[in-house]
Amino acid sequence: MNADMLRTAADKKVVLITGAARRIGARTAEVFHSHGYRVLIHCNRSLTDAQALAARFNQQRANSAFLLQADLNSAHDIQALADAVLSQHARLDVLVNNASSFYATPLARVTEGQWVDLMGSNAHAPLMLCKALSGRLRDSQGSIVNLTDMNINHGMAGFSVYTMAKAALQAMTRSLARELAPDIRVNAVSPGAILWPEHASDAVLHAEQQATILAGIPMARLGTTDDIAQTVFFLAHHAHYVTGQTWRVDGGRGL
Ligand SMILES: NC(=O)c1ccc[n+]([C@@H]2O[C@H](COP(=O)([O-])OP(=O)(O)OC[C@H]3O[C@@H](n4cnc5c(N)ncnc54)[C@H](OP(=O)(O)O)[C@@H]3O)[C@@H](O)[C@H]2O)c1
Repeated sequence: MNADMLRTAADKKVVLITGAARRIGARTAEVFHSHGYRVLIHCNRSLTDAQALAARFNQQRANSAFLLQADLNSAHDIQALADAVLSQHARLDVLVNNASSFYATPLARVTEGQWVDLMGSNAHAPLMLCKALSGRLRDSQGSIVNLTDMNINHGMAGFSVYTMAKAALQAMTRSLARELAPDIRVNAVSPGAILWPEHASDAVLHAEQQATILAGIPMARLGTTDDIAQTVFFLAHHAHYVTGQTWRVDGGRGL
């Protein structure tokens, strides 16, 4: 890169999105990228999808996407991820804590390992990433957006650990909004039903369960990945006087 290209690259805003290889995370990456951001795509197991996404972005705009692989249940990997962001990128404007594990933990069968895993990706890793990256976010007067879940307000039978982890993330959103103000805004997006859990998941829903959920949504449809991504982008990029808020995007399901 010549000096002009380096200057241009340094001028670009940078977003780190965890769990960005697929589904809501990938659409969020597309939205930020389409607004000129350089996108740091974090993935764990979905390396092939993440590589394809980064290649597509870099074809559209050279040096506009970078890959970072880390298991967010590993303290070592979290630190390595943060170190890579800090050493390879001169600025960071937005952190989107999107990665999440999600599966049922019926009370009679819940295990210590499930607790560690679900709390790890949904609450512990976001906290540690905020800690490690807050200095860089402060430099850019940046913002953090956390992905929670509207089910934490209503409870979800069989999913106590997941909902507890997301509730912790929502509590973190409010506390860090106070602690990091006025330099860094911290908000959350709380999706309703957007994409059904995938085939391999034990959270997969039968047709009648899906129909029951749909019947309870005033907007009478699932949300789209774009519904979530656009709200994340709005909170991060436009909502300069909004902090500590959790914005439900659920088609009215929680009314
Ligand atoms: N889908 C919905 O309808 C819905 C509803 C309510 C809330 N949400 C929330 O919205 C966000 C995005 O939803 P989604 O359905 O798109 O998410 P998802 O597909 O279930 O998960 C997103 C990514 O999280 C990553 N992940 C999970 N455990 C990880 C770990 N230990 N280390 C690193 N990465 C890990 C995975 O990355 P790899 O594939 O690379 O391993 C996965 O692709 C999540 O926070 C979710 O809880 C979604």
